[in-house]
Amino acid sequence: MAAPQPASPPPARAATEFAKGLAGVIAGQTSICSLDGTLRYRGYDIEPLAMAGDFEEVAWLLLHGDLPTCAEHAAFSERLSLAARSLDPTVLDALHRLASASPQASVMDALRTGISMLGLVERDDTPGPRTALIAQAERLLGLTPAILAAWIDLTSGRPPQPWPEGPIARALLQRLTGREPSPAQVAIFGTTLVLYAEHEFNASTFAARTVASTGSDMHSAVTAAIGALKGPLHGGANEKVLEVLGEIGSADRADAWVHEQFAAKRVVMGFGHRVYKDGDVRAKLLGRMCRTMVRGTDAERLEELADRVERIMLDKKALKPNLDWPAARVYHALGLPVKVFTPIFVVARMSGWTAHVIEQIGDNRIIRPLSVYSGAAARDYLPLATRG
Ligand code: COA
Repeated sequence: MAAPQPASPPPARAATEFAKGLAGVIAGQTSICSLDGTLRYRGYDIEPLAMAGDFEEVAWLLLHGDLPTCAEHAAFSERLSLAARSLDPTVLDALHRLASASPQASVMDALRTGISMLGLVERDDTPGPRTALIAQAERLLGLTPAILAAWIDLTSGRPPQPWPEGPIARALLQRLTGREPSPAQVAIFGTTLVLYAEHEFNASTFAARTVASTGSDMHSAVTAAIGALKGPLHGGANEKVLEVLGEIGSADRADAWVHEQFAAKRVVMGFGHRVYKDGDVRAKLLGRMCRTMVRGTDAERLEELADRVERIMLDKKALKPNLDWPAARVYHALGLPVKVFTPIFVVARMSGWTAHVIEQIGDNRIIRPLSVYSGAAARDYLPLATRG
């Protein structure tokens, strides 16, 4: 009998075979969101959804695939409110201790830690049936804003206040500003939640799907997603936008400031997008609403500066704003502190993440791409003692 032949090594992969940052790679399919030409959630154009500004309606749509009936909407909203009022005392106690020990910690770190703790106390062991996954998603949708508001209270030295009645947009805005918001303020805040809710295979959603694809649980998946969203090239950009506007200060300094960034090869936060190369439809929508909202107020000065920066970016780099550019200005005009801008993005995107986790589990194959090796050539191992 012939001796077995060693398996022939796979052909070396050429360096040209890979797409850095997976740019242009189609990594799977989804029925949740499409970005061809315009943005659609489950087939619905983003514009009427954004105008309605009803976060619960959109969260239901993303999770279930269709718009809710009035009865479904009312019952869903009630369940989210109930979830927001049912934060486990063990988690609250742990947050209290952490807030006392690290009051200056990033709010994103607090939120990531809080959601991770929920996975422990809510015993999220294995992916269950679809109904159980939807129930978990609903609890996360209610508990995420509750954790955020509790952390802000705890780091401000007051006990967590009760979760208010009403839709998440109204309740969260009230909890974060400490004031009763006007209907117009709730409407535009709701619009930002709708616009932030979902965006196909962005970095954080892909992180969530990758974790879910291993057979891990929903809390682990969304905890990873929060970590990904924190980065300034992704969700963290909305906080950086306000820093940028503050740093420039006034419209007459915009040219010099932008040129400095270009010279130093720094990216300008709030501009550019991996998918939208001709402008982000969400930024156009919210930018218009933001200008209308601030007309005749002190915030109008910031709009002049923002317009100036937009024009320079377009003229010099052909780059248009993304959603974070107007969202930061809207949040600022609503009186929200910068440190909660990206956490608000988490509250909204929790709907998209959980919908994607459920979709991934429903038709799973582990996400495991390949790489091109770029390290040292093959070499012999020398035992430690012989290495001097
Ligand atoms: N400011 C200045 N230059 C920018 C830029 C920005 N905001 N965004 C992209 N560019 C430049 C790139 O440096 C690149 O220049 P080069 O060809 O000279 O190297 C060119 O435009 C093309 O960029 P691209 O490679 O297509 O970007 P990307 O798809 O790899 O990255 C982002 C997309 C969003 C990460 C990037 O635009 C960015 O960093 N934006 C700022 C952060 C931000 O607002 N993030 C929120 C995203 S919703």
